[in-house]
Amino acid sequence: MATATITLNHYENHHSLTIAPPSSGLSLQGQVQIPGDKSISHRSLMLGAIAQGETQIRGLLLGEDPHSTAACFRAMGAEISELNSELVTVQGIGLGQLQEPKDVLDAGNSGTTIRLMMGILASHAKRFFTVTGDASLRSRPMSRVIQPLQQMGAQIWHRSGGLAPLAIQGQALKPIHYHSPIASAQVKSCVLLAGLMAEGETTVTEPALSRDHSERMLRAFGATVKVDLETCSATVTGQAKLQGQTVVVPGDISSAAFWMVAAAIVPGSELLIQNVGINPTRTGILEALSQMEADVTLENQRTVTGEPVADVRVRHSSLKACTIAGDLIPRLIDEIPILAVAAIFAQGTTVIRDAAELRVKESDRLSVMATQLSRMGAKITELPDGLEITGGTSLVGAEVDSYTDHRIAMSLAIAALTATGTTTIQRAEAAAISYPDFTVTLQRVVS
Ligand code: S3P
Repeated sequence: MATATITLNHYENHHSLTIAPPSSGLSLQGQVQIPGDKSISHRSLMLGAIAQGETQIRGLLLGEDPHSTAACFRAMGAEISELNSELVTVQGIGLGQLQEPKDVLDAGNSGTTIRLMMGILASHAKRFFTVTGDASLRSRPMSRVIQPLQQMGAQIWHRSGGLAPLAIQGQALKPIHYHSPIASAQVKSCVLLAGLMAEGETTVTEPALSRDHSERMLRAFGATVKVDLETCSATVTGQAKLQGQTVVVPGDISSAAFWMVAAAIVPGSELLIQNVGINPTRTGILEALSQMEADVTLENQRTVTGEPVADVRVRHSSLKACTIAGDLIPRLIDEIPILAVAAIFAQGTTVIRDAAELRVKESDRLSVMATQLSRMGAKITELPDGLEITGGTSLVGAEVDSYTDHRIAMSLAIAALTATGTTTIQRAEAAAISYPDFTVTLQRVVS
């Protein structure tokens, strides 16, 4: 079989990725080691910084987002060793002990960094913080965390529309019961982290269950956290004592999702994706692929420092359209761009609803996926809160753009593997936010 051409082109300010499958087609084979989970990586750095004693982190994601978190907490006095995936050590400085930084804290592209960190900063009485991010982050809504923090007594200033840059004057906070209008782990975690310093119990109730990594890790570090799955509520007891821990970060299911869909849609493919975190609040992608009748099996299931992990084997098979909506959405929120690619290869019309949150991610993912996949010939319609995709069309190579969104860049690259002709993805460097080795792995598994 002729081989595919996959080339990263470097320009002054950006990269583009060119993918030209051979006319005889290609397939994906082999084993894939995915990078560490982004959500767990952020939380291990943050909790490590505010705990007492040393935290050791193995398998940390080396993407740009965790680098942003590490830089922010270093600027506030936490000693964090150079980031690598073997072992990172964090010398915690204790709850409430972060120093006032001498400069603006820069969360880069990372919503998790800015929103979780705000919960921590708001409770640091008598200290002043300013926080910003890149152009994408400065256009994303922060009112969702400003409002509950203000209810707790926080003092926060922001640009009109609740946008960053933000300024925070730390205060002694009071506990609240917050009923969040959105199922968001970032909002939930922000309020729980703020509650760590408040006197009494702080509860967050959400409309559907979002990822629970904060609850699990807070418990592992010694905080008292109660969870009520029936009401989707989590409660933290304030004035907690956090002790540094060893954290082993599992592979990120959101990164694994690109390989799952690639193997499912490219004829003749079989991939074994190793060490994938399968926390039930994150496995919506497995349920959606199972509804689509994809050939996915979990092997070697085990638990690694409180998080369930498995190896995931995916073989190509014919797919069926499905509906993705309701409580499933928060459990696959980051996988919708790549599921839209899977839907192009499914028989029938796949409908994604209740996903308006995608409009305020690193890009407006509903609009960007609809416009970019349309350029490649997909039958895809943007809905106010989702997408409708009719399968069975063949894709043609085109020039497309990531809009600087890492998950869009990688989803378009997987779509390009199935297209006739050459696809060029502009601003493909965005992938490094969560998956620096994505292109190298793609080149390796394609034959
Ligand atoms: C994250 C939560 C999700 C997700 C993001 C990471 C986290 O955002 O999209 O990539 O680590 O808590 P929301 O909780 O705002 O939906």
